[in-house]
Amino acid sequence: MNEFVLPLPDDFHIHLRQDQALAFYAQDIAKQFGRVLVMPNTLPPLTSVQSILNYKKAIQEAAPRLETLLSFKIHPQLKLQDLEDFKKIGVLIGKYYPAGATTNSEDGISDLEHIFPVLSMMEDLDIVLSVHGEEPSAFCLDREAAFIPKVQLLTEKFPKLRIVFEHLSSAKAVQAVLDMPDTVAATITVHHLTMTLDDLIGENLMPHHFCKPIVKTPEDREAIRQAAFSGNKKFFFGSDSAPHLKEKKESFCGAAGIYSAPVILPILMQEFEKEDKLNRLANFVAGFGADFYGIARSTQSIRLIRKEWQVPLQIHGVVPLAAGQTLQWSLA
Ligand code: NCD
Ligand code: ZN
Repeated sequence: MNEFVLPLPDDFHIHLRQDQALAFYAQDIAKQFGRVLVMPNTLPPLTSVQSILNYKKAIQEAAPRLETLLSFKIHPQLKLQDLEDFKKIGVLIGKYYPAGATTNSEDGISDLEHIFPVLSMMEDLDIVLSVHGEEPSAFCLDREAAFIPKVQLLTEKFPKLRIVFEHLSSAKAVQAVLDMPDTVAATITVHHLTMTLDDLIGENLMPHHFCKPIVKTPEDREAIRQAAFSGNKKFFFGSDSAPHLKEKKESFCGAAGIYSAPVILPILMQEFEKEDKLNRLANFVAGFGADFYGIARSTQSIRLIRKEWQVPLQIHGVVPLAAGQTLQWSLA
């Protein structure tokens, strides 16, 4: 097979940043995706109706064919009235960052109970809770597993609240999502599907493979692969593509985040083909996520062809995932 047609996919977790760089990142993802759920950890963060609408407009101007799905950041001063206003402008998710868990999360939440009233209101308004599921006080490789009881608690306290456990990185979290009710789903990235800790520190220190949550053991990666290839509707694609300039990653204190946007579909094609699961790719990138969020599935399509290309070493000053590697699938 030398050609493959997919419904135009959705990326349910992406960082497009702000200012001049935003246009580059929006245009890169628009080459492969029709809709993107943009994360609110910009500087300053997306915490007001006006900031969210301005952000949407900036993306629209940069990439007119890209549809933006909106988010807000849950922060300690959030008011219940804000939630009603967000709902009115069609915001899909409230993003929960434990304080200090990842890039630009210093203003996150340190006490989950503190936001119970917010979560209860989100449940009533049917706004999805998106969680960066890592417990910052735990050892770095155990942070995701340490967060699972919190998600469990949320499912018990707020049985109708829909929750997305973002960027799964461990076998334990995969199992937890399987065991939880259907109100809980999860996103899976390209890098957690393909890499382990060996790709980060096994031979040399590879700063461009550093992200939160950290890529983990071969067993963890295998569990994530099984989840993605399983055809289970709880698991869908979210890239967590998170560009940082080369010098911000290759530095004394390197930033967390992997720029995967330019290579997503070629790598997904390669991985699903390797496992003889290409028939499950459409639902993974353009079906289950839309269904979970209650939005219509994509009606457009995109064609990929088997044609080698070399991933550039840098794209707008950022080193992308798979830089310098030859990939087998190209956009037609
Ligand atoms: C993301 C970023 O750079 O904004 N970084 C990351 O390592 N994934 C934030 C996030 O989603 O954790
Ligand atoms: Zn992210």
